[in-house]
This record gives sequence, structure tokens and C-alpha cells, in this order.
Amino acid sequence: MAFTIAIAGKGGTGKTTLAALLVRYLREHGGEPILAVDADPNANLGETLGMRPEVTIAELLDEAVSLQKAQSPAMTKEMYIEYRLHAAMVEGRGVDLLVMGGPEGPGCYCYANNLLRHFMDELSGGYRFVVMDNEAGLEHLSRRTTDSVDVLLVTSDPTVRGLQAAARIDRLATRLKTRIGARYLVVTRAPEGGLDSVLEEEIARSGMSLLGVVPYDPAVVEFDMAGRPFAGLPGSSPAVLACRGIFDRLVVRC
Ligand SMILES: Nc1ncnc2c1ncn2[C@@H]1O[C@H](COP(=O)(O)OP(=O)(O)O)[C@@H](O)[C@H]1O
Ligand SMILES: [Mg+2]
Repeated sequence: MAFTIAIAGKGGTGKTTLAALLVRYLREHGGEPILAVDADPNANLGETLGMRPEVTIAELLDEAVSLQKAQSPAMTKEMYIEYRLHAAMVEGRGVDLLVMGGPEGPGCYCYANNLLRHFMDELSGGYRFVVMDNEAGLEHLSRRTTDSVDVLLVTSDPTVRGLQAAARIDRLATRLKTRIGARYLVVTRAPEGGLDSVLEEEIARSGMSLLGVVPYDPAVVEFDMAGRPFAGLPGSSPAVLACRGIFDRLVVRC
């Protein structure tokens, strides 16, 4: 079974950047093969990895729901999803990508989602790591499109309000049916001098466990602006260096 690391947090708090840098770290540390899952409807993990999907899972489920309505005798929904899942998978060197897409249409997706979960469980067996870039509301985890998560990283910007939002997501995670092994906070885009004492106090009050801090890195902004994959960021860039430390600590704790 693959080791699953999910990343959640409010929009704009650095989830996708952290997910892409985690994929980079795992590739550099013998963690391949990796399945990267973009579970944020505002999907852009593929761009940071330099991979583009042909079809998203949401589009595929839409097609499957219409197929059921048409009651095609030639192909069951199950066969159709399995067949189309291959088109939805972008295969790269050491890393494959699945983009969930969405939001879902008004139809009933329960059956399709159950099928998807079944395929995801089967699929994830072929990988050493699954890295999931989630949305703030943890919809995919609450729908249990994945069976269990070993580590949930919750991202926050370096503000009290941001930390309070992260704490809400962290609490939400404890109420899901999905089993989550460990939960950590990662503060991103932090000022050079580290976290202000007000923020440290807020973190202590929240009860979240701080795994690490990613500093503000102009190279990340530059690469984002130019649409360049993060694999090309210099190894000496502050965000890459900080993430290396963060993921080294994560490996030790797991
Ligand atoms: N460490 C960092 N330093 C500077 N800018 C960052 C850093 N991490 C993320 N950003 C920028 O913040 C914005 C949001 O980051 P992103 O990873 O897309 O967040 P999310 O996926 O949570 O919406 C992007 O423009 C990105 O370039
Ligand atoms: Mg994102």
C-alpha cells in the first residue's frame, strides 16, 4: 500500500507549491513511483509538475452518469470508468498525475464515486507514495475517494487569521470517516526572520503541531508567473531548502 500524504489549506496558502516540492523531494530521495492527485477544483498541480491531463475525473464521472442515463448495453459504467481512467492518468517519469477537477454536476455521483474509490485503492497499490493536493473543505477526503491518509499537512500563511482558518481545517479533518494517521501544520511564505511570537502563541493555542516553516521565496513567484515547473527551481532556493528540512523531519516522524 502506498504511503499517502495529503495537503490541505485555504486557497492561496501554498498547498500546490508544497505538493510540487514534496513530489520533487520524493523523486530526489528514491520515493518513486509517485501518484500525484490534484483534488482541488481550482486545479494547477499539473502546471507546477509540468504535466497536463487529457481529461479530469469529474469529466469522466459526468460522462459515466450520462452513460447510465442512456443505458448503454455495450458497456457498464464500471467498465467505462476503468477504461477512461487510463486516459485521465498522465504518465511521467517516476510520477503519474490524476486531476479530480469539478465541481460535480447536479446528478447523483455516489455510485460513480464508490467505483472511483475502488479503482483508486487498487491503483495506489502500485505506488510508493501518493501526494494529494486538496481543497480547503476536504471534500474528496470526506467523500472517501481515498481510503486512508497517513499524513495530512495543513498549510497557513503567517497571519493569526490564517492560523485560525488552518485550525478549523485541522479540526474538520478529525471528524472525517477517512483515517488520518498524523496531522501537521506548515506555515508558508514566512518572513526571513521566522515567525513572530504572536504567531507562535497562536499555534500553541491551536494545539496544531508545527512541522516547519517555508520562507517567502521570490524564485517561486517567478516560476509561477512564467508557468515553469518547480522541478527547475535551483536546489539552493530558500523554499526548496526549507522543504527538504521539513520532509526530512516528516520521514523521521513516520
Ligand atoms: N514559499 C513561497 N514564497 C513565495 N511565494 C509563494 C510561496 N509559496 C507559494 N507562493 C505563492 O503564493 C501563491 C499561492 O500558492 P499556491 O501554492 O498556488 O497556493 P494554493 O495551492 O494553496 O492555492 C502563488 O502565487 C505562489 O507562487
Ligand atoms: Mg492550489
